[in-house]
Amino acid sequence: MIETKSKGQSDPSETRTCILETRQLKVYAGKQVLLQGIDLGISEGEVFGLIGPSGAGKSTLLRCLNRLIDLDQGLRVEGAVLFHGQSVRGRAMDVDELRVRVGMLFQQPVVFPLSILKNVIFGVRHQRKIARRDRLLVAEKALREAALWQEVKDRLQTPALKLSVGQQQRLCLARTLAMEPEIILMDEPTSALDPKSTQAIDDLIMELKKKRTIVLVTHHLNQARRLCDRVAFISAKSGEGGRIACMGETETVMSRTDLAELSDFVGCEQGVTCCES
Ligand SMILES: Nc1ncnc2c1ncn2[C@@H]1O[C@H](COP(=O)(O)OP(=O)(O)OP(=O)(O)O)[C@@H](O)[C@H]1O
Ligand SMILES: [Mg+2]
Repeated sequence: MIETKSKGQSDPSETRTCILETRQLKVYAGKQVLLQGIDLGISEGEVFGLIGPSGAGKSTLLRCLNRLIDLDQGLRVEGAVLFHGQSVRGRAMDVDELRVRVGMLFQQPVVFPLSILKNVIFGVRHQRKIARRDRLLVAEKALREAALWQEVKDRLQTPALKLSVGQQQRLCLARTLAMEPEIILMDEPTSALDPKSTQAIDDLIMELKKKRTIVLVTHHLNQARRLCDRVAFISAKSGEGGRIACMGETETVMSRTDLAELSDFVGCEQGVTCCES
């Protein structure tokens, strides 16, 4: 069982338990290898970042963690993913239950052409019977947690598509939170947002990590620095693509100068130098 320290922990001796783990995880598309033997352990209450060039396999890895990868029939998965020690890929795993406990937030907000209220409780209603009088309570709690309640409380019956993109992303977060997930997988959740909405999501991540575990794919290294306790850098180098080239505490990884691909990536993402292939 892997144990790690968390960013901002006051007690340096405090350690956290690994709740999500991959062992020699591999993904193939025909003969092409998209992920080659990923080993990582994500600890309870941490924000774990996945960084790396475009095409490295970050989204593919994220989708393995709650088996969204199953929806892509052209891909073959090998190796293990363990959630609280139980095989995510095993027959005994209830996939719907898994996706409730390991929720997901995508790059573009996925909003249904329904009211704000119906969007928030959409997943919960499919998961369990929920009395009409409780729907508002569930929605309010989730919207408050997603810092959207004040902005929408007087128009819960209006179409969600009328919200701004930043509000829509917080609405999607509320829909995920309404399911009370233990882990939230976030795939570049702010890349479609303006700076103010990005800040709102960043603030929420800092708040959410008090109760939940987050795996965050980001291209914004400043965001990774602000939010992530640890990061894994995934390589996209020929022959090395889909492999973890470096993993550890965020600042330690970012300051590695001995890995050319990583320092190119850090320089490029910060606009300091230009990436060379
Ligand atoms: N269904 C698929 N069939 C074949 N190849 C795929 C499939 N899905 C992804 N790939 C390939 O796998 C590689 C990794 O893709 P992935 O989307 O995971 O990268 P990424 O690191 O998330 O990139 P980005 O930062 O651009 O989002 C890419 O080369 C992509 O073309
Ligand atoms: Mg991606």
